Amino acid sequence: MSVSFPSLLGGLVLGVSLAHLPSLLRYFLEGRVSPDTSRSRSRRVIITGGTRGLGFAMAREFLALGDSVTVCGRDESAVTEAAESLGCHAVQCDVSDYRDVDRLFESAEKAMGGPPDLVLNNAALSQSPKMRLVDMAVDGQLRTMVDANMTGALIVARRAIPALASCGGTLFFMDGTGAWGNATPGNSVYGCSKRGITQLAATLRKEVTEQKLAQVGVHMASPGMVNTRLLRGAVDFSKSSTVKVLSNLVAEPAEVASWLVPRLRGVPCSCSGRMRYIRFLTPFGAAYRLLFGAMGMRKPTNLMKNVD
Ligand SMILES: NC(=O)c1ccc[n+]([C@@H]2O[C@H](COP(=O)([O-])OP(=O)(O)OC[C@H]3O[C@@H](n4cnc5c(N)ncnc54)[C@H](OP(=O)(O)O)[C@@H]3O)[C@@H](O)[C@H]2O)c1
Repeated sequence: MSVSFPSLLGGLVLGVSLAHLPSLLRYFLEGRVSPDTSRSRSRRVIITGGTRGLGFAMAREFLALGDSVTVCGRDESAVTEAAESLGCHAVQCDVSDYRDVDRLFESAEKAMGGPPDLVLNNAALSQSPKMRLVDMAVDGQLRTMVDANMTGALIVARRAIPALASCGGTLFFMDGTGAWGNATPGNSVYGCSKRGITQLAATLRKEVTEQKLAQVGVHMASPGMVNTRLLRGAVDFSKSSTVKVLSNLVAEPAEVASWLVPRLRGVPCSCSGRMRYIRFLTPFGAAYRLLFGAMGMRKPTNLMKNVD
């Protein structure tokens, strides 16, 4: 019996699609959230690491929707500047220090008039420049990054869950390269910290369910590729072909924030619902950006322009 090449190819595509159907369905269902831009219910929001980049842009977006916001960062002068330019409460805080995090929550609750409804675990550092693990000093980038990205996320979550449980609310973690198990040479520390974040979110979901904290939701957000100091620090600008591809994939913080914030607001706090994984840049979105960018129908992002 002879089988034509098109039917063989069709069968192969169908077989692969069916095999991946459950994960494809989960991928799309997890991300399905109705955006909420209503001003009828104002939220109290804590964003860690909101003195620049995406956290800053998201703070601006929450504020524009009538929410109360508190941001934090380690650099005192950046904290003062962020408070002034956003017009919100800002606290100097290193998320890897639990005393700082306790102070952040106490100060935020006082300034915003109550416990948070939404906590965005956003503070993180990238591996810049990209470097092999064997070439890294332990008491330098390695430890600082694990402290900020992993220890910090644990400490913030530990403090956030009881605070959110008092009135009901949602805790979001930001993913990043490595979160789905993908490996990039030169990105071991950032990658494993982000992989750890997805594990942490899954575990906390089970813990709040076990504690019957039905009013606390634990979810993931994925901003895609954003033109911030974190991303630019990890780009090798000497490779013009890489920069060209990236400039089509990367979005400005304001664009990502205006898409992400209404969706974070739209996630119900109840943990009895599904885990939400809200992704700005899906594979289809990436293909669209690359295609339209290559055809000159989409303006590329200028990665050389310092947006911070
Ligand atoms: N940019 C991207 O393409 C991209 C892609 C995927 C995921 N993400 C994720 O999105 C989040 C925001 O990243 P970004 O691109 O906006 O980075 P960014 O521009 O470098 O901003 C990071 C923020 O975190 C703060 N921060 C760093 N370490 C801290 C610590 N130990 N304690 C408190 N604050 C700390 C920084 O302030 P100080 O330095 O003053 O402390 C700053 O406000 C991160 O979780 C990142 O992994 C980004």
